[in-house]
This record gives sequence, structure tokens and C-alpha cells, in this order.
Amino acid sequence: MVQEYKLFIGGEFKNSSTGEVFEDINPATLESLATIQIAGTEDVDKAVDAAEAGFRVWSRVPAPRRAELLFRAARILQERKEELAVLMTEEMGKILPETRGDVQEAIDITNYAAGEGRRMFGETTPSELNEKFCMTVLRPLGVVGLITPWNFPIAIPAWKIMPALVAGNSIVFKPASDTPLLALKLIEVLIEAGLPPGVINLVTGPGGTVGKAVVQHPRIRAISFTGSLDTGKWIMKECSKTMKRVSLELGGKNPVIVMDDADFELALEGVLWGAFGTTGQRCTATSRLILHEKIKDEFTKRLLAKVKALRIGNGILPETDVGPLISKAQLEKTERYVSIGKEEGATLLTGGKRTDPGLPGYFFEPTVFTDVMPEMRIAQEEIFGPVLGIFTVSSLEEAIEVANNSKYGLSSAIYTGNVGNAFKAIEKIEAGITYINAPTIGAEVHLPFGGVKGTGNGFREAGTDAIREFSEVKAVYIDYSGRLQKAQIDSAE
Ligand code: UN1
Repeated sequence: MVQEYKLFIGGEFKNSSTGEVFEDINPATLESLATIQIAGTEDVDKAVDAAEAGFRVWSRVPAPRRAELLFRAARILQERKEELAVLMTEEMGKILPETRGDVQEAIDITNYAAGEGRRMFGETTPSELNEKFCMTVLRPLGVVGLITPWNFPIAIPAWKIMPALVAGNSIVFKPASDTPLLALKLIEVLIEAGLPPGVINLVTGPGGTVGKAVVQHPRIRAISFTGSLDTGKWIMKECSKTMKRVSLELGGKNPVIVMDDADFELALEGVLWGAFGTTGQRCTATSRLILHEKIKDEFTKRLLAKVKALRIGNGILPETDVGPLISKAQLEKTERYVSIGKEEGATLLTGGKRTDPGLPGYFFEPTVFTDVMPEMRIAQEEIFGPVLGIFTVSSLEEAIEVANNSKYGLSSAIYTGNVGNAFKAIEKIEAGITYINAPTIGAEVHLPFGGVKGTGNGFREAGTDAIREFSEVKAVYIDYSGRLQKAQIDSAE
């Protein structure tokens, strides 16, 4: 019998009001790992009530004290790293070294956010007037709604939860339905670290009902969402009705430019890892490879040899390079895009079909198209699977033009031995992240993470920006002159 997991509201595990459940499936074996309860609208209401009570307590805890709790949570995550990584491979499918990396990223952001607890700086500035002092202070937002994807089942929740907590907010957390167990484990960690009741509340179930109730809730003050562009657009529109702050991270179509002066082997390794790591299921995954015509044939040939050598299988086995896709829906979507690519006239070089490594799960061959044109759908739309498209260009200018021909702008990379080319790429590529001689994946938690154009709405996660994401700035004026001083009318003597 697989275990049934409840919602977590007001410091207690509670049965949902709907009585409905869904199965949490291992995408490699298709075995059920757990049964998860589906929250109803009234459960979301209760979660908000509890979060409001939690906020009253938590927002009064001084930030350096809140940070101590986070440091404890980081230590617990560290102690449980291997157990969480194994569970994540079972739940999400990616290979064990990557799930260890996912947990490590959660540990890193937890320590980082905790450190920020003693750096919640405002600004001071002279006033226009004598005997008057001006400063800014950061205030928490209140109850925030966090909606997270399945591809980084603990790192992305931690990116949102830890900065939100250190800034003094309380949380209603709606994780992806494909990876609820890791969300529950993170709740366990926070309980063990001593988080007071109500400060974090977990509601599980479909985005279409539970996510929607969180987004539309009149007493939730902000939404932070990582997911698809279409859902992000809908969330932004909905949030305008209740004037919520909304921060969005909506994917990418990330290009890598390889110039004729690049370190060949380095670029090959970087493209392989960027495109097929996490089975291509990263917002930062390399999906467009822009090759200089002088090296195109040789690079493609050597890349194909490496792609064909990738071993597909259960991510729990040490010999596996590429695990399954997360779900049947993602498998079918990837298949659909392969057909679209062929119909559009791109040339399929390898992969393009399901594969069976002796398991019933959602396995798909690493896939490479060439002769891809910028206007094709496989060049424009996010596939979120192991599919790489190759473009050929004759100059850096043309490469940058192709790179920028996208509605997204998250990550990007250039491989070149020429410092001028590197700086031109930094200056001209429209993206939130540009790597020089490194793959498009692997952002570090102390730098801002996010993108331009369709990737988001200007917010950045991680880094010091994360504290701002979850804080209001208040301007404070202290007049100690003892008389009425009129700004813009009186002048300082
Ligand atoms: C994502 O895919 O949404 O930079 C996040 C990276 C990881 C995070 C990816 N640190 O690839």
C-alpha cells in the first residue's frame, strides 16, 4: 500500500475537503510512489487564514532570528541530502548526480537567504530640509502564493520559500502535481527547523483548480510562479484584478553560439550537457545551437557521435546519462514537436522517437535536427525535452541576430577564443544570463536568475534581488525640528 499524504495547514497535516486524490508516479517504472490529496477552494481559504495568523507571529520575529531557523533548515537538508536525492530521482526521473545537485542548490539558497537575514539594508539620504532625516526600510508583503514546477522539485521551491521567509512573509505553497513528495519533504525540514504553525502551508492538486484558487485569492498579496508562458500570461492578467505583485519565470529557447575560434572539445561537452542534461527539461536548457559555417560539419559530426553514445535509462543506475521525461504529456509533446520539425523541413539527424531501456517509463531518444530556420516552430517554441536544433551562420553578427530571434530571453552562451566576440555577445544577446565558454545551465544562487522578453516580467530570483522580490520598500521621514517644515515650499537655511 502506498502512503497517502495530506495537506499541511496551520502547522498540521489535514485531510482535504474534496476527498479526492491523485497518484504520484515514478516516470521510469510507472510505479505509484504515493497518493496525494487534492485541495479544494475551501482548503485554500483555510491555508490563507492560517498564513495570516502565521504572518502575525513571523513578521515580528527579527530578521536575524528568522535567519537562524533557515541555517538550521540548511543543516537538515545537508544531513538528508542523499535520501532526498534518491527520492527525487524516483519521483522526477533525472539522474542521481543531478538530483544531488538539485538538493545542493536548495542548501545553497537556504544558507544564502539566511545570510541575508543580517543584511536587510535600507538606504539613508539627506533631506531637502534641516533637522529632518530620510531612510528606507524593507517590510514583508504578507501572505505570498508560491507555485513551483516539477523540474527542480526542491531547488526552485527553496529559491522562493527561503527568501520569502527571511523577508518575513508567510506562505501558501502549491507545488507541481508531478513532484509533490519533494515539496512535502521540504515542509518536514522546515517543521524540524522550528518554523511556527501557519508560516508555511501546503496545498496540493491541479493548477487548474488549486493553483487558480491561490492566484485569485483576495488575501494573497503576491504570486511567484515558475512555469509556462501561457500560464504566466493568465496569472498576470488574473493578478491585476486583486492588484497582486506577480513575479514570473517562464522558460526559454536558449541559444549557444559556437564560433570558428572556439575550443572545440570544450564546446562539444558544453552543448551536450546543456541540451541533454535533465533530459532537456530545464528552463535554461540549450535548445538552439548556432554554428559558424567553417566548423559546422565537423562539429555536427563529432556532436552526433557523443549524442548517440548517451545511455538512456533509470536515473537511479550509475551508468545512466539521460533519464525519462516526467510524464506521458511531456513525452507526447516532444513527439509532436519532432513531427512538426520534420513537416517544417528541418533534417532529423538522430533520435526523434521513444525508446525502451527495459522499463515502461517515458523514455525518449536524445534528438538533433539540423537545417533549422529561425521562423520554424521548433526554433521558436519551448519543447522542454531532449531536442536540439542546429542553425548555420557566417558571422558573429548573424549569430547574434539568430540568437535574438526569439520571444524568450533566459539563458545564452558563446564559445569563442576571442575576447572581442565574448564582449560583443555580452552586450548584444538579449537574455538574463550569458555564459562565456560554459553551457547555458548551472546558474549559481547568489546571482540574479531570470530573463527578458517572454521569459518574465522583470523580476529576478535568487541573489539579493530575491529579498526585494518578497519585500515592500517603505520611505521614512523623521522631522526633529519641532516645527512644521514644508517640503517643496520651505528651503533649508
Ligand atoms: C530551471 O530550469 O527553471 O541554471 C532552473 C540552471 C539551474 C536552475 C534551472 N541552476 O540550470
